[in-house]
Amino acid sequence: MRVLGIESSCDETAVAVLDEDRGLLAHRLHSQSEMHDRYGGVVPELASRDHIRRLLPLTRAALAEAGTGATDIDGIAYTAGPGLIGALLVGAAFGRSLAYAWGCPAVGIHHLEGHLMAPMLEPDPPAFPFLALLVSGGHTMLIRVQSFGDYRILGQSVDDAAGEAFDKTAKLLGLPYPGGAHLERLAERGRAGRIVLPRPMLDRPGFDFSFSGLKTAAARHIRGRALTDDERADLAHAFQTAIVETLVAKTLRALEETDLRMLIVAGGVGANKALRARLAASARDLGADVRYPRVQFCTDNAAMIAMAGLWRLRSGSREPLAINARARWSLAGDLRSSVA
Ligand code: KG4
Ligand code: ZN
Repeated sequence: MRVLGIESSCDETAVAVLDEDRGLLAHRLHSQSEMHDRYGGVVPELASRDHIRRLLPLTRAALAEAGTGATDIDGIAYTAGPGLIGALLVGAAFGRSLAYAWGCPAVGIHHLEGHLMAPMLEPDPPAFPFLALLVSGGHTMLIRVQSFGDYRILGQSVDDAAGEAFDKTAKLLGLPYPGGAHLERLAERGRAGRIVLPRPMLDRPGFDFSFSGLKTAAARHIRGRALTDDERADLAHAFQTAIVETLVAKTLRALEETDLRMLIVAGGVGANKALRARLAASARDLGADVRYPRVQFCTDNAAMIAMAGLWRLRSGSREPLAINARARWSLAGDLRSSVA
């Protein structure tokens, strides 16, 4: 089976071709972040319009790179939600129309299911069941992944997502949007222990997170003062350390309190090197294995959507021709159809 994957839920337009036997044949991505940077965040209408401009050329390029024609594609997987509704509708309409024209099935994929399947693109994929730490711009969750499609949310952020906290703090530090990776680079120059920020919710039982207080504490350090370059780096370091320690502590607690011995880390914040290093070391101490997608497939991409699509299509999922997208969509329900 060969699947064309399409991602357009936010500000990345991406297309990939995945073959069941031969693996990933092509993946193409255009990031709109430069276009949105001057507004300090994603402008939904601009995002939708740009997806319309990019999807066809990216698809042509991906098919050419894969050496594949339309007749070789057995199914199409597109992100059906959650995300920006206009952006999702562009990908959904495009994916469904291609499937109609090519006479193959199409399935709408839950974006977070895509992130959860990203480690399956790597040479040594994790086996079910596993614990997933999903840390993106919109979500922070600990999930028990029992099998494909069976997701039990153990804990999540009660306010800001980890990526959102990175982005908001990066903005306070005068870094471009989205700021996670920029803040990570600045933190590398920061001195440990110069500034200490709180570790929210660590003293509370359970697996929920809270990050808005951390962002506020960072803001208090800056308010009314012009920071030197060194002070900015120290603050970035303190912020990153606090968020990483909180994520690691709750993840270890979840490993300790469940029978799970395989951990996967997914979502954009999973690209963070400090987080990866700390999790790898701590999980090893507990006798658990950790699997990450390659850094490129931590953030939004179409290869992960094609992978989730391959699993769905193999399990026999088929959907009616109606074009559907869902701005809000719980991961905990039945994801076999994107039709609300
Ligand atoms: O998964 P993703 O691409 O999009 C969503 O589905 O939200 O995640 C994007 C988020 C942004 O908040 C971005 O700042 C963050 O991931 N991010 C990082 C790093 N790279 C991306 N955060 C911390 N360190 C990084 N290296
Ligand atoms: Zn994402």
